[in-house]
Amino acid sequence: MFDVNKIRDSFPMIRNNPELIYFDSSATSLKPQCVIDTVVNYYEKETANIHRGDYDISFDVSKAYDNTRKTVAGFIGAQDPNCIVFTSGATASLNTVAINFGKKFLTEGDVILTSELEHASNILPWFKAAEESGAKIEYVPLNVDGSFNLSEYVKCFENKRIKIVALPYVSNVLGYINPVKQICRIAHENHALVCIDGAQSVPHIPTNVKEDDIDFLAFSSHKMLGPSGVGVLYAKFDLLNQMDPIFYGGGSNARFFKNGEIMLKNSPDKFEAGTPCIEGVLGLQSAIEYLETVGMEKISEHCEQLSNYFADKLNDLANVTVYNRGSKAGIVTFNLKQIFAQDAASYFNANHISVRTGNHCAKLLPNIINASETIRASFYLYNTFEEIDRFVELIKDTTIEKCVDSVL
Ligand code: ALA
Repeated sequence: MFDVNKIRDSFPMIRNNPELIYFDSSATSLKPQCVIDTVVNYYEKETANIHRGDYDISFDVSKAYDNTRKTVAGFIGAQDPNCIVFTSGATASLNTVAINFGKKFLTEGDVILTSELEHASNILPWFKAAEESGAKIEYVPLNVDGSFNLSEYVKCFENKRIKIVALPYVSNVLGYINPVKQICRIAHENHALVCIDGAQSVPHIPTNVKEDDIDFLAFSSHKMLGPSGVGVLYAKFDLLNQMDPIFYGGGSNARFFKNGEIMLKNSPDKFEAGTPCIEGVLGLQSAIEYLETVGMEKISEHCEQLSNYFADKLNDLANVTVYNRGSKAGIVTFNLKQIFAQDAASYFNANHISVRTGNHCAKLLPNIINASETIRASFYLYNTFEEIDRFVELIKDTTIEKCVDSVL
């Protein structure tokens, strides 16, 4: 059974801040006690480097680190743990793909197909790849509400030079779930590969890279109850074999010679030079165990119910514009008429409610939704309908004067 009160009890941030209403989980999630305990345990009882020490603690930590790779693979439906590379975050994962793809597979006139939904991390690396290879960036036309338009996407392939499609599974502003299985099928029929930014999807909906036939998937631990400083790059093994690391150093090479020749290890080791964020990877293991115990289907259902409930309530208010009715991944983006988003957020903050405002790093999207700044409330498994009721009461009562007073 999904017991939100029991879930809330396992989050120290909630226990220690009884007044806090945290609606910014798309920026980063809160962490359950088990994740914090794992990180502290590493520092207090298990500190050692991995894959380098000839003593028990190092063996044990190495085993736990490698075991997380298997856990992550299982969590996203990847069959081979060697397809899981630990990085510093989704941004590092996406840069690894784009830099490599640009160098190895793109030539002048090729096309990188992306969208105006993109968070900076899944478009700026592709801008650089285009600049360095002479490839062009093209954008899939979206529906007027910013949702994905599959028939427009199909039409894009009339351009036979699309080599890579870079899209989010879930937009970090609008929360729509893109039809990734069809996106991959259509790309593959046209000899293109697909790079998916899963930063907002993997924490919220069950993921299966094999069923979707995703080529590259990037996501971050800190948005899925795990520690910051750890991300994942999943890629099909033959693609990883063709890619080069961005960083070179200890742990990634089998041998090197005076003439400059380097013999790299196979994936994933070749991509993980230097000492990684060991405690973060161990914490990610605990985070996934926690998510799996609650159940990803139930988490997804809960977040969808919360966002529908909130959007329905906002819909009844004359002073509110909602930009993403139909969002399923626990994200509701809106504005209060005549009130600057950040001023509203200051008033909410003064009333212990945390939301994010601005363009949310998706700096092309304002043109689509006709709003340069928005307020984003993002929910996760620990949020409740009562919290939303309190927020709605506050929104009803929000005026320009109160917002200005809260800023002063
Ligand atoms: N990508 C994160 C967000 O959407 C930081 O807030």
